[in-house]
Amino acid sequence: MLTLEGFDPKKVESMVSLVRENFKKDYSKDLFFQMASLFPDKFITMMDDGVLIGFLMGTLISPKEVRILIFVVDKNHRNMGIGTKMLSTFIEKSRAKEIEKIRLEVKTTNENAIKFYKKFGFRVVKVLPRYYRDHSNGYMMYLDL
Ligand SMILES: CC(C)(COP(=O)(O)OP(=O)(O)OC[C@H]1O[C@@H](n2cnc3c(N)ncnc32)[C@H](O)[C@@H]1OP(=O)(O)O)[C@@H](O)C(=O)NCCC(=O)NCCS
Repeated sequence: MLTLEGFDPKKVESMVSLVRENFKKDYSKDLFFQMASLFPDKFITMMDDGVLIGFLMGTLISPKEVRILIFVVDKNHRNMGIGTKMLSTFIEKSRAKEIEKIRLEVKTTNENAIKFYKKFGFRVVKVLPRYYRDHSNGYMMYLDL
């Protein structure tokens, strides 16, 4: 059974693995603990019978603006509406807190994700040359709430 949850310290290793598999980045477990303690309400996880299959980690960057730092759904669970559920929940929670803007960065080559975000109303506001570690370019995208 799928359940939408918040941060769970027992799932941090799975978060590290999901990030490694999908973004080829090695984040320390501490990063997740720190972010969850600073912004507990900006962490959204999806479990399938208790197994982490996706998560969204956000942060507050100004009193009225939040930023999505990590958003990922496990490969075997994509195109089932899980990303939509997590992002819609993040948007609803942000609105409830009177947040006015959501910002994120995405690789310019990540057509899937860009299309997905545009469906929610996100728009590209800036190109970020060589933004990523592999020197690929990024887009900064914003959603006005
Ligand atoms: C971007 C990402 C988080 C989306 O997650 P997801 O769970 O696959 O998203 P959804 O299933 O809600 O939506 C994806 C597509 O499936 C479609 N879909 C949703 N529910 C569906 C269902 N029940 N049956 C079939 N298709 C469905 C959606 O309409 C959407 O199609 P579209 O993009 O053509 O409009 C996921 O692809 C991912 O983790 N990508 C790799 C990491 C990444 O790029 N993250 C973003 C970096 S900024």
